[in-house]
Formats: sequence, structure tokens, C-alpha cells
Amino acid sequence: MLFLLMLTGVEPEPWVAGFRRALPELEIRVWPDPGPPEAVAYALLWLQPHGLLGRFTGLKAVFSFGAGVDRILADPSIRPDIPIVRLIDPGLTTGMVEYVVHRVLHYHRRIPDYEAMQRRHDWRELEQPLPEDRTIGFLGLGVLGTACAQALAGLGFDVAGWSRTPKRLPGIECLHGETGFDALLARSDIVVALLPSTAETRGILGARAFARMKQGARFINVGRGSLVVDDDLLAALDRGHLAGATLDVFQVEPLAADHRFWSHPLVSVTPHVAAYSQPKTVVRTVSEQIRGFEAGRGLPHVVDRARGY
Ligand code: NAP
Ligand code: GLV
Repeated sequence: MLFLLMLTGVEPEPWVAGFRRALPELEIRVWPDPGPPEAVAYALLWLQPHGLLGRFTGLKAVFSFGAGVDRILADPSIRPDIPIVRLIDPGLTTGMVEYVVHRVLHYHRRIPDYEAMQRRHDWRELEQPLPEDRTIGFLGLGVLGTACAQALAGLGFDVAGWSRTPKRLPGIECLHGETGFDALLARSDIVVALLPSTAETRGILGARAFARMKQGARFINVGRGSLVVDDDLLAALDRGHLAGATLDVFQVEPLAADHRFWSHPLVSVTPHVAAYSQPKTVVRTVSEQIRGFEAGRGLPHVVDRARGY
């Protein structure tokens, strides 16, 4: 029985070594050397070339190397009966919390203002609001949105979040539906997008949404680039309606060398690194899931294909 790693842009060595140790009963293969196609029982996928999975006729399940499964779902070669397991992993969650808390504190503590003052050799103390007087609004209150929201609520911020279905989370105002979306945008000083890319969410952050955000609000996108209409975000920044954007994910990755985001003075770009999958935790998570499935237990976190996440 083979376990195939199809991990585009990922150094395979630590993954192969980790899975060989954790799952000695499986033969670990790395694309493009899958061995006999009918012997492939499991696959771990990240940005896999589309159209290839149909040849693995013995496939029992595929595992996503990331929390987002949009790229896997867009591959027409995955049979509808194959479970797709999405990644919920402590290392990924920690990374996202670190990134979002860091960027929120960067804006909250007025670091962009102090950096501009440093360039002018300007020594002054600026007014500093308390965290309870800053509202951080999360679009997406799933595993990652909830962890980030709770971390910021723990630091004393006023935190709200928006999801598809109604939720109750202690210390966080939970909103849903179209009116909830508008209300969240209107009351947040910093809006954090942590939604999956689905038919319903693509382009959700366009001119209408940016116009509903507060004058001077900041925007952090760590969900997917497809949530945002780039030109509408640039227009909101250029006319001074938004005061800054932190962007980790983009419509097309890598971000094109001539994209305006790279050089816009109000935009911070990182190359899709907010949270990343690390062998130390992911090998354990996926190995336990495969072993449990082989022992007759169900698979956790199976993607609802109709919902798109
Ligand atoms: P998750 O647990 O599936 O949560 C998704 C959240 O989005 C849920 O709260 C869900 O609502 C909400 N949602 C989905 N469709 C919606 C809609 N149409 N309207 C309103 N809310 C909607 O996912 P997660 O693990 O938190 O991850 C979220 C996303 O982060 C991933 O899909 C991926 O794109 C992105 N990500 C990025 C990085 C990075 O490095 N930048 C790393 C990891 C993940 P319900 O709660 O009602 O279902
Ligand atoms: C990264 O983007 C992920 O989906 O885990």
C-alpha cells in the first residue's frame, strides 16, 4: 500500500523521513514517482498538478497539506466518492495566531506612524487608544478565525466575527448573514479575512465592502487572494478611505513582479507564509488519521464538497 506525497514547492525530504518513521507499514512515494498507480491508497496534496488523480484507482482518501482546499476541489480528477480531509493542525493554528496578533499590534500600537516619524527624525508621543477601544472584526470564525479572535480578546481587544452559520463564543460578538457582514465591516477598526475561497466568498471584498468599512480602517487578508477585488482595494487605499492593508495571499501566486501591491506605501506583502505546515506536527496529525481509518474509525474533518470547505 502506497502513500503518495504530491507537494508542489515543498522540500520533500523532511516529509518523507517523517512519514517513513510514523507509518512504517506504508510505502512513501513522492510525485512524480508514484510507483504502481493502482497501489496508491492515500495522497497528501499541495498545489498538485490537476488532472492526474483519476489514475490512482485504489485511492481511499486524500489529505490536504493546508487548511484551504480550494485548489484540491478545483481538480476535476478527484472522484466524488473519495473523502478529502482538510488540515486542522496545532502548528498551523499557532502560526496564524502569531501572524494575525503581530499585525494587529503593529497597527494598534501605531508602528507605521512611528516609522514615518523616524524617517523625519521626529520625537513625539502619539495618543494611544486602549485595546478595549479598538474593534477587530474577523470574516470567518472557523478553526483559525476563532483561535485568532480568542487570542486578541485575551489581550483586551473588542472582538467580533462573522460566519455562515450562527455561533456563540464567549467574549466575542458573533454575527452572520448579509446584515451581519455589513455590521461587522462598519464597526471594525481592523478587518481580518480568514474565509475559505468558495463560490460564495470569491470577490466578497470589493468596492461595496470597502466602502462599508470605517474611514481609516486597516485590512488584513490571510484567507485567500480570491476573496479580494484587487483594484477595489487599491482604490480604497488611494482615496484614503483605508489606512493600510496587510496581504499574505493573492489572486495569483507568486504575486506578479509588476503588481501595484509590492510598492504601494500602505500595503505590506508577505509571500503566503502567515501559517505553514510543519513536519513536526502535520506528520503526526495525518499519520494518526490514516492509522485510525485503517483500524475502521472514520476520518475527521472531511470537506463538504457542496459547501466548498
Ligand atoms: P474553517 O474552520 O473551515 O472556517 C471557515 C470559516 O469561514 C467558518 O467560520 C465558516 O462559517 C466561514 N465561512 C465560509 N463560507 C462562508 C460564507 N459564505 N459566509 C460567511 N462565512 C463563511 O477554516 P479555517 O481552518 O479557519 O481556515 C480558513 C481559511 O484560511 C482557509 O480556508 C485558507 O483559505 C486560509 N488559510 C490561509 C493560510 C495562510 O498561510 N495565509 C494558512 C491556513 C489557512 P461556518 O463556521 O458557519 O461554517
Ligand atoms: C495555507 O494557505 C493553508 O490553506 O493551509
